[in-house]
Amino acid sequence: MKGVSAIILAAGQGKRMKSSLPKVAHSVLGKPVVWHVAQAARAAGIGEMVFVLGYGRDKILPTVEAFAGKVAIQESQFGTGDAARCGLAELSAGAKEVVVLCGDAPLIRPATIRAVLAARRRKGAAASVLTGVLEEPSGYGRIVRDPDGSVAKIVEEKDADAATRKIREVNAGMYAFDRAFLAKALPRVSDVNAQREFYLTDLVLEALAEGTRVVPVAAADPDEVRGINSRRELAEASRILLRKKLDELMTSGVTVIDPSRTYVETEVVVGQDSILEPGISLLGKTRAGRGVRIQAGCVVEDCVLGDGVHLKPYCVMTSSRVRNGAILGPFSHLRPEADIGEGAHIGNFVEVKKSRIGKGSKANHLAYLGDAVVGRKVNVGAGTITCNYDGIAKYQTVLGDGVFVGSDTMLVAPVTVGKGALIGAGSTITKNVPPYALALCRPEQKNFDFWVARKKPELLKKAGLAIPAMKKGDK
Ligand code: UD1
Ligand code: CA
Repeated sequence: MKGVSAIILAAGQGKRMKSSLPKVAHSVLGKPVVWHVAQAARAAGIGEMVFVLGYGRDKILPTVEAFAGKVAIQESQFGTGDAARCGLAELSAGAKEVVVLCGDAPLIRPATIRAVLAARRRKGAAASVLTGVLEEPSGYGRIVRDPDGSVAKIVEEKDADAATRKIREVNAGMYAFDRAFLAKALPRVSDVNAQREFYLTDLVLEALAEGTRVVPVAAADPDEVRGINSRRELAEASRILLRKKLDELMTSGVTVIDPSRTYVETEVVVGQDSILEPGISLLGKTRAGRGVRIQAGCVVEDCVLGDGVHLKPYCVMTSSRVRNGAILGPFSHLRPEADIGEGAHIGNFVEVKKSRIGKGSKANHLAYLGDAVVGRKVNVGAGTITCNYDGIAKYQTVLGDGVFVGSDTMLVAPVTVGKGALIGAGSTITKNVPPYALALCRPEQKNFDFWVARKKPELLKKAGLAIPAMKKGDK
Protein backbone atom coordinates (compact mmCIF):
# COMPACT_ATOMS: atom_id res chain seq x y z
CA MET A 1 0.00 0.00 0.00
CA LYS A 2 1.79 3.09 -1.19
CA GLY A 3 1.67 6.20 0.92
CA VAL A 4 0.32 4.44 4.00
CA SER A 5 2.46 4.37 7.13
CA ALA A 6 1.79 3.15 10.63
CA ILE A 7 2.54 4.66 14.01
CA ILE A 8 2.54 2.07 16.76
CA LEU A 9 2.12 3.48 20.26
CA ALA A 10 4.33 1.56 22.65
CA ALA A 11 5.93 4.02 25.07
CA GLY A 12 3.87 3.31 28.17
CA GLN A 13 4.94 1.20 31.12
CA GLY A 14 1.62 -0.50 31.69
CA LYS A 15 1.42 -0.08 35.44
CA ARG A 16 -1.42 -2.55 35.87
CA MET A 17 0.87 -5.35 34.68
CA LYS A 18 2.95 -4.91 37.87
CA SER A 19 6.10 -5.66 35.93
CA SER A 20 9.54 -4.22 35.28
CA LEU A 21 9.14 -5.26 31.66
CA PRO A 22 7.19 -2.79 29.50
CA LYS A 23 3.68 -4.05 28.88
CA VAL A 24 3.99 -4.46 25.13
CA ALA A 25 7.18 -6.53 25.50
CA HIS A 26 5.36 -9.28 27.38
CA SER A 27 5.02 -12.42 25.38
CA VAL A 28 1.78 -13.76 23.91
CA LEU A 29 2.11 -17.12 22.19
CA GLY A 30 5.89 -16.76 22.11
CA LYS A 31 6.09 -13.25 20.65
CA PRO A 32 5.93 -9.79 22.23
CA VAL A 33 2.48 -8.21 22.34
CA VAL A 34 3.65 -5.37 20.06
CA TRP A 35 5.09 -7.88 17.56
CA HIS A 36 1.56 -9.15 16.86
CA VAL A 37 0.41 -5.59 16.19
CA ALA A 38 3.27 -4.95 13.76
CA GLN A 39 2.70 -8.31 12.10
CA ALA A 40 -0.93 -7.41 11.42
CA ALA A 41 0.14 -4.05 9.98
CA ARG A 42 2.70 -5.77 7.77
CA ALA A 43 0.14 -8.33 6.58
CA ALA A 44 -2.29 -5.48 5.83
CA GLY A 45 0.32 -4.18 3.39
CA ILE A 46 1.78 -1.31 5.37
CA GLY A 47 5.45 -0.67 4.68
CA GLU A 48 6.72 2.12 6.87
CA MET A 49 6.29 1.64 10.62
CA VAL A 50 7.25 4.06 13.33
CA PHE A 51 7.35 2.67 16.87
CA VAL A 52 6.88 5.22 19.63
CA LEU A 53 9.02 4.00 22.50
CA GLY A 54 9.75 5.29 25.96
CA TYR A 55 9.67 3.08 29.02
CA GLY A 56 11.96 0.06 28.70
CA ARG A 57 12.64 0.78 25.05
CA ASP A 58 15.60 -1.63 24.83
CA LYS A 59 13.22 -4.53 25.36
CA ILE A 60 11.19 -3.51 22.32
CA LEU A 61 14.03 -2.83 19.89
CA PRO A 62 14.24 -6.46 18.68
CA THR A 63 10.66 -6.16 17.43
CA VAL A 64 11.41 -2.82 15.78
CA GLU A 65 14.35 -4.43 14.00
CA ALA A 66 12.30 -7.46 12.94
CA PHE A 67 10.03 -5.11 10.99
CA ALA A 68 12.79 -2.72 9.89
CA GLY A 69 10.83 -0.02 11.72
CA LYS A 70 11.78 3.47 12.79
CA VAL A 71 11.91 4.61 16.39
CA ALA A 72 10.40 7.78 17.82
CA ILE A 73 11.27 8.46 21.43
CA GLN A 74 8.62 9.80 23.79
CA GLU A 75 10.64 10.61 26.89
CA SER A 76 7.67 11.20 29.22
CA GLN A 77 4.32 9.58 28.63
CA PHE A 78 2.00 12.56 28.32
CA GLY A 79 -0.74 10.55 26.64
CA THR A 80 -1.67 8.93 23.34
CA GLY A 81 -2.00 12.32 21.57
CA ASP A 82 1.52 13.27 22.55
CA ALA A 83 2.77 9.81 21.51
CA ALA A 84 1.20 10.17 18.07
CA ARG A 85 2.84 13.60 17.72
CA CYS A 86 6.25 12.02 18.44
CA GLY A 87 5.59 9.33 15.84
CA LEU A 88 4.47 11.79 13.21
CA ALA A 89 7.81 13.59 13.39
CA GLU A 90 9.57 10.46 12.13
CA LEU A 91 7.27 9.69 9.20
CA SER A 92 8.68 9.98 5.71
CA ALA A 93 7.38 12.72 3.44
CA GLY A 94 5.73 10.13 1.22
CA ALA A 95 3.23 9.08 3.89
CA LYS A 96 -0.15 10.50 2.96
CA GLU A 97 -2.25 8.29 5.22
CA VAL A 98 -1.38 7.25 8.73
CA VAL A 99 -2.67 4.25 10.63
CA VAL A 100 -2.27 4.60 14.39
CA LEU A 101 -2.24 1.36 16.34
CA CYS A 102 -2.07 0.64 20.05
CA GLY A 103 0.95 -1.49 20.76
CA ASP A 104 -1.04 -3.26 23.47
CA ALA A 105 -3.85 -4.66 21.29
CA PRO A 106 -2.42 -7.82 19.71
CA LEU A 107 -5.67 -9.34 18.43
CA ILE A 108 -6.13 -6.88 15.60
CA ARG A 109 -6.45 -8.55 12.18
CA PRO A 110 -4.99 -7.34 8.89
CA ALA A 111 -8.39 -7.31 7.19
CA THR A 112 -9.69 -4.98 9.90
CA ILE A 113 -6.83 -2.54 9.39
CA ARG A 114 -7.63 -2.50 5.69
CA ALA A 115 -11.33 -1.96 6.42
CA VAL A 116 -10.60 1.05 8.63
CA LEU A 117 -8.37 2.56 5.94
CA ALA A 118 -10.97 1.94 3.24
CA ALA A 119 -13.81 3.49 5.28
CA ARG A 120 -11.97 6.79 5.65
CA ARG A 121 -11.12 6.96 1.97
CA ARG A 122 -14.62 6.09 0.91
CA LYS A 123 -16.10 8.92 2.94
CA GLY A 124 -13.26 11.33 2.23
CA ALA A 125 -13.18 11.97 5.99
CA ALA A 126 -10.35 13.23 8.17
CA ALA A 127 -10.22 10.01 10.08
CA SER A 128 -11.81 6.65 10.78
CA VAL A 129 -11.79 4.72 14.02
CA LEU A 130 -12.25 1.07 14.89
CA THR A 131 -14.94 0.39 17.48
CA GLY A 132 -16.25 -2.69 19.20
CA VAL A 133 -19.29 -3.49 21.26
CA LEU A 134 -18.23 -5.16 24.50
CA GLU A 135 -20.24 -6.89 27.18
CA GLU A 136 -17.86 -5.41 29.72
CA PRO A 137 -16.75 -2.00 28.37
CA SER A 138 -15.18 -0.60 31.53
CA GLY A 139 -11.74 0.90 31.14
CA TYR A 140 -12.21 1.78 27.48
CA GLY A 141 -13.05 5.10 25.86
CA ARG A 142 -16.74 5.21 24.90
CA ILE A 143 -17.97 6.06 21.41
CA VAL A 144 -20.67 8.72 21.56
CA ARG A 145 -22.53 8.76 18.27
CA ASP A 146 -24.54 11.49 16.58
CA PRO A 147 -28.06 10.69 15.51
CA ASP A 148 -26.74 10.17 11.95
CA GLY A 149 -24.36 7.49 13.22
CA SER A 150 -21.12 9.41 12.92
CA VAL A 151 -18.86 9.86 15.94
CA ALA A 152 -19.68 12.89 18.09
CA LYS A 153 -16.89 12.32 20.60
CA ILE A 154 -14.89 9.69 22.41
CA VAL A 155 -15.05 9.93 26.17
CA GLU A 156 -12.50 8.22 28.40
CA GLU A 157 -13.86 6.15 31.26
CA LYS A 158 -12.33 8.50 33.82
CA ASP A 159 -14.00 11.52 32.22
CA ALA A 160 -17.36 9.86 31.63
CA ASP A 161 -20.60 10.49 33.47
CA ALA A 162 -22.88 7.62 34.51
CA ALA A 163 -24.93 7.74 31.29
CA THR A 164 -21.84 7.67 29.06
CA ARG A 165 -20.40 4.77 31.01
CA LYS A 166 -23.45 2.76 30.06
CA ILE A 167 -22.45 2.94 26.39
CA ARG A 168 -21.06 -0.42 25.34
CA GLU A 169 -19.47 0.68 22.10
CA VAL A 170 -15.81 1.37 22.79
CA ASN A 171 -12.78 2.83 21.07
CA ALA A 172 -10.32 0.14 19.96
CA GLY A 173 -7.51 2.69 19.79
CA MET A 174 -6.90 1.98 16.09
CA TYR A 175 -7.37 4.78 13.58
CA ALA A 176 -6.68 5.83 10.01
CA PHE A 177 -5.90 9.50 9.44
CA ASP A 178 -5.34 11.81 6.59
CA ARG A 179 -1.80 12.86 7.32
CA ALA A 180 -2.35 16.54 6.66
CA PHE A 181 -5.24 16.59 9.12
CA LEU A 182 -3.23 14.75 11.76
CA ALA A 183 -0.32 17.16 11.43
CA LYS A 184 -2.57 20.18 11.69
CA ALA A 185 -4.88 18.96 14.45
CA LEU A 186 -2.53 17.20 16.90
CA PRO A 187 -0.90 20.38 18.24
CA ARG A 188 -4.36 21.67 19.11
CA VAL A 189 -5.17 18.85 21.51
CA SER A 190 -5.06 19.94 25.14
CA ASP A 191 -4.51 18.03 28.36
CA VAL A 192 -7.45 19.48 30.24
CA ASN A 193 -9.07 16.25 31.44
CA ALA A 194 -9.21 13.83 34.36
CA GLN A 195 -5.81 12.30 33.61
CA ARG A 196 -3.99 15.51 32.57
CA GLU A 197 -2.98 13.71 29.37
CA PHE A 198 -3.08 14.62 25.71
CA TYR A 199 -5.80 12.36 24.33
CA LEU A 200 -5.53 11.22 20.74
CA THR A 201 -9.26 10.65 20.94
CA ASP A 202 -9.84 14.41 21.13
CA LEU A 203 -9.07 14.55 17.42
CA VAL A 204 -12.74 13.71 16.87
CA LEU A 205 -13.61 17.18 18.13
CA GLU A 206 -10.91 18.73 15.95
CA ALA A 207 -12.32 16.97 12.89
CA LEU A 208 -15.82 18.25 13.61
CA ALA A 209 -14.46 21.75 14.18
CA GLU A 210 -12.94 21.55 10.70
CA GLY A 211 -16.24 20.53 9.19
CA THR A 212 -15.04 17.03 8.44
CA ARG A 213 -15.62 13.93 10.55
CA VAL A 214 -14.52 10.63 11.95
CA VAL A 215 -16.03 7.48 10.46
CA PRO A 216 -16.68 4.62 12.88
CA VAL A 217 -15.92 1.08 11.71
CA ALA A 218 -17.37 -1.65 13.92
CA ALA A 219 -15.10 -4.66 14.37
CA ALA A 220 -16.68 -7.85 13.10
CA ASP A 221 -15.17 -9.65 16.07
CA PRO A 222 -15.21 -7.68 19.34
CA ASP A 223 -12.15 -9.62 20.55
CA GLU A 224 -10.03 -7.58 18.18
CA VAL A 225 -10.63 -4.52 20.27
CA ARG A 226 -9.10 -5.99 23.38
CA GLY A 227 -6.13 -4.13 24.78
CA ILE A 228 -3.88 -5.81 27.29
CA ASN A 229 -3.64 -3.94 30.55
CA SER A 230 -3.21 -6.70 33.11
CA ARG A 231 -1.80 -10.21 33.38
CA ARG A 232 -5.32 -11.54 33.23
CA GLU A 233 -5.93 -9.82 29.92
CA LEU A 234 -2.57 -11.16 28.74
CA ALA A 235 -3.73 -14.70 29.49
CA GLU A 236 -7.06 -14.05 27.75
CA ALA A 237 -5.29 -12.80 24.64
CA SER A 238 -3.02 -15.85 24.69
CA ARG A 239 -6.02 -18.12 24.85
CA ILE A 240 -7.71 -16.41 21.91
CA LEU A 241 -4.58 -16.34 19.74
CA LEU A 242 -3.82 -19.96 20.58
CA ARG A 243 -7.28 -21.06 19.55
CA LYS A 244 -6.84 -19.15 16.27
CA LYS A 245 -3.48 -20.80 15.67
CA LEU A 246 -4.88 -24.27 16.30
CA ASP A 247 -7.89 -23.56 14.07
CA GLU A 248 -5.50 -22.60 11.27
CA LEU A 249 -3.57 -25.83 11.76
CA MET A 250 -6.73 -27.94 11.74
CA THR A 251 -7.97 -26.14 8.62
CA SER A 252 -4.68 -26.99 6.93
CA GLY A 253 -5.06 -30.70 7.72
CA VAL A 254 -3.46 -31.23 11.11
CA THR A 255 -5.28 -33.29 13.74
CA VAL A 256 -5.34 -31.60 17.13
CA ILE A 257 -6.89 -34.13 19.46
CA ASP A 258 -7.66 -31.71 22.29
CA PRO A 259 -7.16 -28.02 21.45
CA SER A 260 -7.74 -27.01 25.07
CA ARG A 261 -4.60 -28.90 26.08
CA THR A 262 -2.27 -28.14 23.18
CA TYR A 263 0.14 -25.19 23.14
CA VAL A 264 1.56 -24.09 19.80
CA GLU A 265 3.34 -20.77 19.42
CA THR A 266 2.76 -18.26 16.66
CA GLU A 267 5.56 -19.11 14.25
CA VAL A 268 5.36 -22.88 14.49
CA VAL A 269 4.66 -24.75 11.25
CA VAL A 270 3.12 -28.24 11.17
CA GLY A 271 2.61 -30.27 8.00
CA GLN A 272 -0.51 -32.01 6.78
CA ASP A 273 -1.69 -35.26 8.36
CA SER A 274 0.32 -34.67 11.48
CA ILE A 275 -1.25 -35.57 14.81
CA LEU A 276 -0.82 -33.41 17.88
CA GLU A 277 -1.79 -35.24 21.04
CA PRO A 278 -2.81 -33.48 24.27
CA GLY A 279 -0.32 -31.92 26.63
CA ILE A 280 2.38 -30.82 24.22
CA SER A 281 4.21 -27.51 23.71
CA LEU A 282 5.57 -26.60 20.30
CA LEU A 283 7.65 -23.48 20.71
CA GLY A 284 9.61 -20.86 18.85
CA LYS A 285 10.47 -21.56 15.25
CA THR A 286 9.69 -25.27 15.34
CA ARG A 287 8.83 -26.71 11.92
CA ALA A 288 7.33 -30.15 11.59
CA GLY A 289 6.88 -31.97 8.30
CA ARG A 290 3.97 -34.10 7.14
CA GLY A 291 2.61 -37.08 9.01
CA VAL A 292 4.41 -36.25 12.23
CA ARG A 293 3.00 -37.66 15.46
CA ILE A 294 3.75 -35.88 18.72
CA GLN A 295 2.57 -37.51 21.92
CA ALA A 296 1.82 -36.23 25.40
CA GLY A 297 4.33 -34.23 27.35
CA CYS A 298 6.67 -33.31 24.49
CA VAL A 299 8.27 -29.86 24.66
CA VAL A 300 9.83 -28.98 21.34
CA GLU A 301 11.56 -25.64 20.87
CA ASP A 302 13.16 -24.31 17.69
CA CYS A 303 13.44 -27.77 16.12
CA VAL A 304 13.02 -29.05 12.60
CA LEU A 305 11.18 -32.37 12.36
CA GLY A 306 11.11 -34.26 9.06
CA ASP A 307 8.18 -36.12 7.56
CA GLY A 308 6.84 -39.08 9.52
CA VAL A 309 8.80 -38.35 12.66
CA HIS A 310 7.26 -39.89 15.77
CA LEU A 311 7.89 -38.35 19.17
CA LYS A 312 6.70 -40.70 21.85
CA PRO A 313 5.65 -39.21 25.20
CA TYR A 314 7.81 -36.76 27.12
CA CYS A 315 10.55 -35.84 24.69
CA VAL A 316 12.24 -32.54 25.49
CA MET A 317 14.15 -31.03 22.61
CA THR A 318 15.75 -27.71 21.75
CA SER A 319 17.37 -26.30 18.60
CA SER A 320 17.78 -29.70 17.00
CA ARG A 321 16.93 -31.49 13.82
CA VAL A 322 15.20 -34.83 13.42
CA ARG A 323 15.15 -36.30 9.92
CA ASN A 324 12.39 -38.21 8.16
CA GLY A 325 10.95 -41.23 9.88
CA ALA A 326 13.05 -41.06 13.03
CA ILE A 327 11.46 -42.27 16.26
CA LEU A 328 12.23 -40.69 19.61
CA GLY A 329 11.20 -41.34 23.17
CA PRO A 330 9.61 -41.90 25.47
CA PHE A 331 11.75 -39.55 27.57
CA SER A 332 14.42 -38.56 25.07
CA HIS A 333 16.33 -35.33 25.52
CA LEU A 334 17.83 -33.47 22.57
CA ARG A 335 19.96 -30.51 23.51
CA PRO A 336 21.08 -27.89 20.98
CA GLU A 337 22.60 -29.08 17.72
CA ALA A 338 21.50 -32.67 17.86
CA ASP A 339 20.91 -33.99 14.35
CA ILE A 340 19.08 -37.30 14.27
CA GLY A 341 19.33 -39.17 10.98
CA GLU A 342 16.61 -40.64 8.85
CA GLY A 343 14.87 -43.57 10.46
CA ALA A 344 17.09 -43.45 13.53
CA HIS A 345 15.77 -44.50 16.95
CA ILE A 346 16.55 -42.57 20.09
CA GLY A 347 14.98 -44.21 23.10
CA ASN A 348 14.22 -43.62 26.74
CA PHE A 349 16.59 -41.61 28.88
CA VAL A 350 18.93 -40.96 26.01
CA GLU A 351 20.45 -37.47 25.93
CA VAL A 352 22.01 -36.18 22.74
CA LYS A 353 23.92 -32.92 22.52
CA LYS A 354 25.72 -31.38 19.52
CA SER A 355 25.92 -34.75 17.81
CA ARG A 356 25.07 -36.15 14.42
CA ILE A 357 23.44 -39.55 14.44
CA GLY A 358 23.50 -41.34 11.08
CA LYS A 359 20.67 -42.89 9.12
CA GLY A 360 19.13 -45.95 10.74
CA SER A 361 21.30 -45.83 13.85
CA LYS A 362 19.91 -46.73 17.27
CA ALA A 363 20.52 -45.60 20.81
CA ASN A 364 17.53 -47.07 22.54
CA HIS A 365 18.23 -46.92 26.24
CA LEU A 366 20.00 -44.81 28.85
CA ALA A 367 22.84 -43.17 26.97
CA TYR A 368 24.65 -39.85 26.66
CA LEU A 369 25.97 -38.84 23.27
CA GLY A 370 27.71 -35.45 23.32
CA ASP A 371 30.00 -33.99 20.63
CA ALA A 372 29.72 -37.23 18.68
CA VAL A 373 29.63 -38.08 15.01
CA VAL A 374 27.81 -41.37 14.63
CA GLY A 375 27.67 -43.11 11.26
CA ARG A 376 24.88 -45.16 9.69
CA LYS A 377 23.39 -48.30 11.21
CA VAL A 378 25.31 -47.92 14.42
CA ASN A 379 24.00 -49.67 17.50
CA VAL A 380 24.67 -47.85 20.74
CA GLY A 381 24.08 -50.17 23.69
CA ALA A 382 22.30 -49.28 26.90
CA GLY A 383 24.33 -47.20 29.29
CA THR A 384 26.85 -45.97 26.72
CA ILE A 385 28.41 -42.65 27.58
CA THR A 386 30.65 -40.34 25.61
CA CYS A 387 33.07 -38.89 28.15
CA ASN A 388 33.38 -35.66 26.19
CA TYR A 389 34.50 -33.21 28.85
CA ASP A 390 37.61 -33.13 30.99
CA GLY A 391 36.49 -30.16 33.05
CA ILE A 392 38.10 -27.69 30.69
CA ALA A 393 37.44 -28.59 27.06
CA LYS A 394 35.05 -30.73 25.01
CA TYR A 395 36.29 -33.55 22.77
CA GLN A 396 34.78 -35.46 19.90
CA THR A 397 33.79 -39.11 19.59
CA VAL A 398 33.53 -40.63 16.11
CA LEU A 399 31.73 -43.93 15.51
CA GLY A 400 32.03 -45.30 11.96
CA ASP A 401 29.20 -46.91 9.99
CA GLY A 402 27.92 -50.18 11.38
CA VAL A 403 29.77 -49.95 14.69
CA PHE A 404 28.26 -52.01 17.51
CA VAL A 405 28.83 -50.53 20.94
CA GLY A 406 28.18 -52.99 23.76
CA SER A 407 26.22 -51.87 26.79
CA ASP A 408 27.85 -49.81 29.50
CA THR A 409 30.68 -48.58 27.33
CA MET A 410 32.59 -45.42 28.24
CA LEU A 411 33.96 -43.71 25.15
CA VAL A 412 36.67 -41.40 26.47
CA ALA A 413 37.02 -38.64 23.88
CA PRO A 414 38.77 -37.76 21.72
CA VAL A 415 38.36 -41.22 20.28
CA THR A 416 37.51 -42.78 16.94
CA VAL A 417 35.99 -46.20 16.37
CA GLY A 418 36.45 -47.46 12.80
CA LYS A 419 33.57 -48.79 10.74
CA GLY A 420 32.27 -52.25 11.46
CA ALA A 421 34.12 -52.47 14.76
CA LEU A 422 32.64 -54.15 17.83
CA ILE A 423 33.09 -52.97 21.38
CA GLY A 424 32.56 -55.48 24.14
CA ALA A 425 30.07 -54.55 26.85
CA GLY A 426 31.48 -52.79 29.86
CA SER A 427 34.54 -51.44 28.08
CA THR A 428 36.23 -48.15 28.75
CA ILE A 429 37.61 -47.11 25.39
CA THR A 430 40.50 -44.68 25.56
CA LYS A 431 42.32 -45.56 22.35
CA ASN A 432 41.12 -45.48 18.75
CA VAL A 433 39.65 -48.76 17.47
CA PRO A 434 40.58 -49.84 13.92
CA PRO A 435 37.80 -50.77 11.48
CA TYR A 436 36.33 -54.29 11.87
CA ALA A 437 38.23 -54.90 15.13
CA LEU A 438 36.92 -56.14 18.46
CA ALA A 439 37.82 -53.85 21.33
CA LEU A 440 37.50 -55.18 24.82
CA CYS A 441 38.66 -53.39 27.89
CA ARG A 442 37.53 -54.78 31.20
CA PRO A 443 39.17 -56.66 34.08
CA GLU A 444 39.07 -60.42 33.80
CA GLN A 445 36.34 -62.09 35.81
CA LYS A 446 37.18 -64.41 38.72
CA ASN A 447 34.71 -66.94 40.25
CA PHE A 448 35.13 -68.28 43.80
CA ASP A 449 33.32 -71.62 43.94
CA PHE A 450 30.72 -72.08 46.72
CA TRP A 451 31.89 -68.85 48.36
CA VAL A 452 28.33 -67.75 49.20
CA ALA A 453 27.27 -71.14 50.52
CA ARG A 454 30.27 -71.25 52.78
CA LYS A 455 30.71 -67.62 53.88
CA LYS A 456 27.19 -66.20 53.71
CA PRO A 457 24.70 -69.07 54.00
CA GLU A 458 22.17 -66.67 55.57
CA LEU A 459 21.75 -65.05 52.15
CA LEU A 460 20.66 -68.39 50.67
CA LYS A 461 18.36 -68.99 53.59
CA LYS A 462 16.71 -65.62 53.08
CA ALA A 463 16.13 -66.51 49.44
CA GLY A 464 14.62 -69.88 50.39
CA LEU A 465 17.48 -71.84 48.84
CA ALA A 466 18.90 -75.00 50.38
CA ILE A 467 22.60 -75.16 51.16
CA PRO A 468 24.03 -77.07 48.22
CA ALA A 469 26.02 -80.25 48.61
CA MET A 470 29.68 -79.37 48.42
CA LYS A 471 32.28 -81.89 47.37
CA LYS A 472 34.57 -83.16 50.08
CA GLY A 473 37.73 -81.22 50.15
CA ASP A 474 36.04 -78.02 48.95
CA LYS A 475 37.21 -75.29 51.27
C1 UD1 B 1 -6.68 4.15 25.01
C2 UD1 B 1 -7.75 5.11 24.48
C3 UD1 B 1 -9.11 4.55 24.77
C4 UD1 B 1 -9.25 3.19 24.14
C5 UD1 B 1 -8.12 2.25 24.58
C6 UD1 B 1 -8.13 1.00 23.74
C7 UD1 B 1 -6.86 7.37 24.61
C8 UD1 B 1 -6.87 8.64 25.36
N1 UD1 B 1 -7.59 6.39 25.10
O1 UD1 B 1 -6.88 4.08 26.43
O2 UD1 B 1 -10.11 5.42 24.25
O3 UD1 B 1 -10.51 2.63 24.47
O4 UD1 B 1 -6.83 2.89 24.37
O5 UD1 B 1 -7.21 0.06 24.24
O6 UD1 B 1 -6.22 7.30 23.59
N2 UD1 B 1 1.02 5.14 25.03
C9 UD1 B 1 2.17 5.81 24.66
N3 UD1 B 1 2.43 7.01 25.23
C10 UD1 B 1 1.62 7.59 26.14
C11 UD1 B 1 0.44 6.90 26.52
C12 UD1 B 1 0.16 5.67 25.94
O7 UD1 B 1 2.94 5.33 23.84
O8 UD1 B 1 1.94 8.69 26.60
C13 UD1 B 1 0.76 3.82 24.43
C14 UD1 B 1 0.76 2.71 25.43
O9 UD1 B 1 2.05 2.12 25.54
C15 UD1 B 1 -0.25 1.72 24.87
C16 UD1 B 1 -1.18 2.61 24.05
O10 UD1 B 1 -0.53 3.83 23.86
O11 UD1 B 1 0.37 0.77 24.02
C17 UD1 B 1 -2.51 2.83 24.76
O12 UD1 B 1 -2.24 3.44 26.00
P1 UD1 B 1 -3.06 3.08 27.30
O13 UD1 B 1 -2.50 3.88 28.41
O14 UD1 B 1 -3.17 1.63 27.47
O15 UD1 B 1 -4.48 3.71 26.88
P2 UD1 B 1 -5.88 3.33 27.47
O16 UD1 B 1 -6.06 4.01 28.77
O17 UD1 B 1 -6.08 1.89 27.41
CA1 CA C 1 -4.82 0.11 26.84
